Amino acid sequence: MKCFYIFKDKSKTNRVAKSAPEARDKSKLENSALNRTAVSLPSPRSIPELYKEKEHNLRVFSFQELREATNGFNRMLKLGEGGFGSVYKGTIIPANGQGDRIAVAIKKLNRHGLQGHKQWLAEVQFLGVVNHPNLVKLLGFCSEDDERGIQRLLVYEYMPNRSLEDHLFNRALSTLPWKTRLEIMLGAAQGLAYLHGGLEIQVIYRDFKASNVLLDKNLKPKLSDFGLAREGPTGDRTHVSTAVVGTYGYAAPEYIETGHLKVQSDIWSYGVVLYEILTGRRTVERNRPTMEQKLLDWVKLYPADSKKFSMIIDPRLRDQYSLSAARKVAKLADCCLKKNPEERPTMNQVVESLKQAIQESEDGNTSKKTPVTSASRLIERRSRKVGLNARMCVNGKDLFFSEVCISGINLEYGTEMTMIILLIQLLAIFNNEKQKRGCEKGKHIDV
Ligand SMILES: Nc1ncnc2c1ncn2[C@@H]1O[C@H](COP(=O)(O)OP(=O)(O)OP(=O)(O)O)[C@@H](O)[C@H]1O
Ligand SMILES: [Mg+2]
Repeated sequence: MKCFYIFKDKSKTNRVAKSAPEARDKSKLENSALNRTAVSLPSPRSIPELYKEKEHNLRVFSFQELREATNGFNRMLKLGEGGFGSVYKGTIIPANGQGDRIAVAIKKLNRHGLQGHKQWLAEVQFLGVVNHPNLVKLLGFCSEDDERGIQRLLVYEYMPNRSLEDHLFNRALSTLPWKTRLEIMLGAAQGLAYLHGGLEIQVIYRDFKASNVLLDKNLKPKLSDFGLAREGPTGDRTHVSTAVVGTYGYAAPEYIETGHLKVQSDIWSYGVVLYEILTGRRTVERNRPTMEQKLLDWVKLYPADSKKFSMIIDPRLRDQYSLSAARKVAKLADCCLKKNPEERPTMNQVVESLKQAIQESEDGNTSKKTPVTSASRLIERRSRKVGLNARMCVNGKDLFFSEVCISGINLEYGTEMTMIILLIQLLAIFNNEKQKRGCEKGKHIDV
């Protein structure tokens, strides 16, 4: 899902940073947390100041190096494209020049002039400062001018398991189990809690969504994309005033209305993603009936405490989740989505609630029967109607029916899959036998 820009700065600039990136036209970056100076700012220190101390940790790459790393930004190596540019898989020589090349992800920013530069700069400075197991590591950057204009690139650690968005919504990938969903959300919450309270300065992430939660080889989550991050308010201030940027469907309503940014905006977005993991639906899905297009409106019809709550649970989870933990998660999401930002929980409170939900799921409190969703009802009806009754969930695709001419059994994937195979084998043996005995072929076998 792409970002939206309700306000765009169309100013053009000519000069760019050569090594350590710095804001270029400070008068045009009004309100930007990135242009504070040490003189005007009492403690705590600003991100650019903190960045100055740590910039030596980042590698400065030449454009040529990164072109080679990606085989000329080969389309075959493209991992995806977001609102800011394209991301490629590449390999680089380790910093000490020794050993095998290491896999990296290289984001080549679109040439949006000052806007693009601002996002690139924010990302370099924020990711240059933060350090947490649930935040993606920035290894270095490239900032060069060539005859065609400015080149801005970012080099990150490579995350081999794509994003939470891919695992939730890409039907080609297998279903993300219930507990893994919670663990991913816990890691993401810990990353946000660190940004909100674990640094000298408060950081508001401003772009929390499933596509920005990347997964490593063990499905451990790391937040990426700090192009929209901002320093939180300091002193007596309750918010920072900004142009409204973010992603449709995830941004907090009071922020969209007023441009007043608070940490609570991140907590709203987090609540949206909690409902995405519960339902397996995107925050906005235009191809659904009108009532179901906006996830937050739809889930309101199925309150966490109601009997019909289980109808909104992702049908791909089947009965493999804890209903009571799911209710807890939905209630937590409702708290994150309180209209009044002050009533939303802190990220630390979210972390604690999620730990409890995980514990509850581990205690074997999984619902014993398949949740009654509209999809599962339809399936029940269809499997009753046709007499063939093999009910499967393969590769996350909702359902396939397989006609094996066996009536009277309703089979489910898992051990049942083995039963189907056994039955087919039995069928073959039986047919063979019949042939041998001169029986008619093609008749149903009732088991
Ligand atoms: N460090 C990384 N390792 C592996 N894949 C990555 C990495 N960073 C980004 N990607 C992948 O690159 C693709 C594009 O990411 P990008 O962040 O540019 O877009 P997005 O998150 O889909 O949208 P937006 O620009 O709104 O954030 C995504 O599929 C993402 O999973
Ligand atoms: Mg992204």
